Amino acid sequence: MTTASAPGKVILFGEHAVVYGRPALAVPVTQVHADVEVEDSPAPGIWVDAPEISIRCEISSLPATHALRTVIENVFRTLGISSPPPLQIRITSTIPVASGLGSGAAVSVALIRALSSTVNRPLSDEQVNALAYEAEKLHHGTPSGIDNTVVTYAKPVYFVRGQPIQTFNVARPFTLVIADTGIPAPTRESVGDVRKLWEADKTKWEAMFDEVGGIVQAAREAIETGKTKELGPLMDANHALLQEMTVSSPELDRLVLAARGAGALGAKLSGGGRGGNMLALVEPTEAEQAASALRAAGAKNTIITTIEEKQ
Ligand code: PMV
Repeated sequence: MTTASAPGKVILFGEHAVVYGRPALAVPVTQVHADVEVEDSPAPGIWVDAPEISIRCEISSLPATHALRTVIENVFRTLGISSPPPLQIRITSTIPVASGLGSGAAVSVALIRALSSTVNRPLSDEQVNALAYEAEKLHHGTPSGIDNTVVTYAKPVYFVRGQPIQTFNVARPFTLVIADTGIPAPTRESVGDVRKLWEADKTKWEAMFDEVGGIVQAAREAIETGKTKELGPLMDANHALLQEMTVSSPELDRLVLAARGAGALGAKLSGGGRGGNMLALVEPTEAEQAASALRAAGAKNTIITTIEEKQ
């Protein structure tokens, strides 16, 4: 049996503006992960069992554009294998679906790595990332590529669309509480709506995206120089801009306010918005207290994570 695993991720700063060429910062979240097991199948064909999304079938019975089928076919095409061996694939994940924690990208990356090692043809990180990006297009429409990149390299990433990946140093560890609204984040829809706003008034929105870009630069500097407390007000400023982009929601705003009320240094939504997760910067000693305040304010789940150099 061959196995592979990939972590979740959160976007710290810069979501949405990243689609328009501005930088964004994202980090892996190892507390949640996707896991793939591949073994020989007694029956011909490639069988997928993914209980969380209620899939149990041979891949040719999935629509041709289904992300799982596409990933599997693209891996074998990339490897030049025209008749793959009969396989049984089991996919499980502790990453909530459509919550902004990168579940689609993590499943793709783990699947690509498990399949390529099953046939003893490991792929480079660059190839894994490119294949996972193809699947992201099916999930999101016009993805920036940030999710697949962070999940593939499993390191803090300073991401600019179309540019080689840059990792960044974390001079001093910092603690985040991630809280889930429990509402699926309609990323494709929120990205589409921001595009409509941008098309209607490009000057205004380009200036707004520049402002987000400035926040991202300042945040990177704060992280690299260990001035982590500065991240709090930067998170608040980024959240305010995301509200203007219409991608927050009453539930996200309620959690952001609850986190600040519980002593967080700053808080913002993370990812596509209108649901999914938010994050709060906290002193490590106050993390539990902030997490329980978030659950009291309606969060369906909370994760406390420390961002440091070696994730
Ligand atoms: O909802 P998520 O975490 O998959 O993130 C979407 C991030 C956006 O910037 C809104 C879109 C993108 O493709 O970068």
